[in-house]
Amino acid sequence: MKILAFETSCDETSVAIVEDFNVIVNYTRQQLVHSEFGGVVPELAAREHIRYIYQLTKLALKEVSLSEIEGIAFTYGPGLASSLLIGITFGKTISQLINKPFIGINHLEGHIFSIFINNKVDFPFLCLIVSGGHTELVLVEDFLKYKVIGYTLDDAIGEAFDKGAKMLNLGYPGGPTIDKLSKSGNKDFIKFPKPKIKSGKFNFSFSGIKTSLRLYLKDKSEEFIKEHISDICASYQEALIDTVLDTTLKAIKEYNISRICVVAGVSLNSRLREKFKEQIDEVYFPLPEYCMDNAAMIGVAGAYRLKKGYRSNLDISAEPNLEL
Ligand code: KG4
Ligand code: ZN
Repeated sequence: MKILAFETSCDETSVAIVEDFNVIVNYTRQQLVHSEFGGVVPELAAREHIRYIYQLTKLALKEVSLSEIEGIAFTYGPGLASSLLIGITFGKTISQLINKPFIGINHLEGHIFSIFINNKVDFPFLCLIVSGGHTELVLVEDFLKYKVIGYTLDDAIGEAFDKGAKMLNLGYPGGPTIDKLSKSGNKDFIKFPKPKIKSGKFNFSFSGIKTSLRLYLKDKSEEFIKEHISDICASYQEALIDTVLDTTLKAIKEYNISRICVVAGVSLNSRLREKFKEQIDEVYFPLPEYCMDNAAMIGVAGAYRLKKGYRSNLDISAEPNLEL
């Protein structure tokens, strides 16, 4: 079943064509306009989506003709309302044009499905979703059967990476830069506090680590920071990664499930991959191109759901706070 899919929940415009769990094309355009603001500007994001979605769709349809498309999938939440609406409206319109069914996909479900593009994973497994907007630990009992067992009480881990990078004047998004600089740094240079979680056994918190970095930098000179930038990055990164790793290890014990998938933008982090592989026997990651937001993951989730008979109605709209 060939599916045309759209992802416009934040600052990546992405269009893909998939056939079941195989990706035929996946074109993603990361919007660069936000870098000077140190974060995503919703109004600009929506305008960029409008500009790119048509171009990317035209490009994708060079590989597969529209007459071969059997269904449409798009993200309908969570995310920025004005951005989501672009993909939703575009997707619904094409579906009406070609008279094929369409399905709205939860962005987080998309990230979970990204793992199936290159892996055959048995159920049950624990899925750690680590992105710029989310940090969630999910028990996946079967396809479409999820139980959220932990979530962040404040920032998402990607947000903590990005805000830390902003304090260090490393640009946006700062996660990849911190990853790169950390490679030559001393991870024991600064000792960050372990987060104290006030509620929920498997919940996360990153704001304490972020505040510690702010306090640490307060009385440091520009020269000192410049000289030790790799050490500061490596220590900060280690504290963020240990937070998700410790909680995942706790969940592995409690649920007696040692099969782990780590998905979404921060799963690209090289130190995270290294530590998880060291400490967990069976751990899976998506291919690098399907970690950051992309339409391929929405397409494979859509293909699965459409095949099972799921359909959305024409009145489906953006749900910015949609949960799994
Ligand atoms: O999944 P994603 O594209 O967007 C959301 O759904 O939020 O994730 C984006 C996040 C950003 O915060 C970015 O800094 C982070 O992923 N990221 C990384 C790395 N590559 C991307 N964080 C740490 N290390 C990386 N290599
Ligand atoms: Zn995402």
